[in-house]
Amino acid sequence: MKRLGILLSGRGSNFEAIANSIEAGKLPGAEIAIVISNRTSARGLEISRSRGIPCVAIPSAGMDRETYDGLLIEKLQEFDVDLICLAGFMRLLSTRFVEAFPQRILNIHPSLLPAFPGLDAQHQAIDYGVKIAGCTVHLVDEFLDSGPIIVQRAVEVRDDDTADTLSARILVEEHQAYTEGIRIIVEGNYRVAGRKVIRG
Ligand code: GRF
Repeated sequence: MKRLGILLSGRGSNFEAIANSIEAGKLPGAEIAIVISNRTSARGLEISRSRGIPCVAIPSAGMDRETYDGLLIEKLQEFDVDLICLAGFMRLLSTRFVEAFPQRILNIHPSLLPAFPGLDAQHQAIDYGVKIAGCTVHLVDEFLDSGPIIVQRAVEVRDDDTADTLSARILVEEHQAYTEGIRIIVEGNYRVAGRKVIRG
């Protein structure tokens, strides 16, 4: 059984989707070991509590990155986590953290990377005028929204889309793409060659 550690900062809808997938038997071989939020008020923590999934807030305010990441590593190891899923975790991770879990950290980003990394990706897409947007599940390296791509899903941008309407349609795809990405990694039927995640 692969034990997942979910890191989040807010709403937690991707976490909820992962929990739903596990419950529905769509992620055999995976269980959520712990949910960690850097914000005590994160809705993701409420979801976790109401589902009986272990969770903890580790507030990051005022702490330097190395110290904070040290706390995260400790907690994740305490819960024997095999795979870390960033699900709206609004912090950059240190090299120390990334090196503690080599190719064992996944992230989801609401754009077709390498387009529009960073904050407000859907807003960036609207402002740029792209016709196709989407989401990306990728392995995490020490750079922002970088790392080998596992799954991408495209979403058509409509002429009357706002950042909000586009975000809502991308989110539906995110919830499916994350489960797909986690399944690939949990099944282990892949290899990483440079920037490529090759299946089979
Ligand atoms: C998602 O759009 C995700 O792609 C991005 O942050 C948002 C988190 O949403 N990294 P939620 O907390 O999972 O609802």
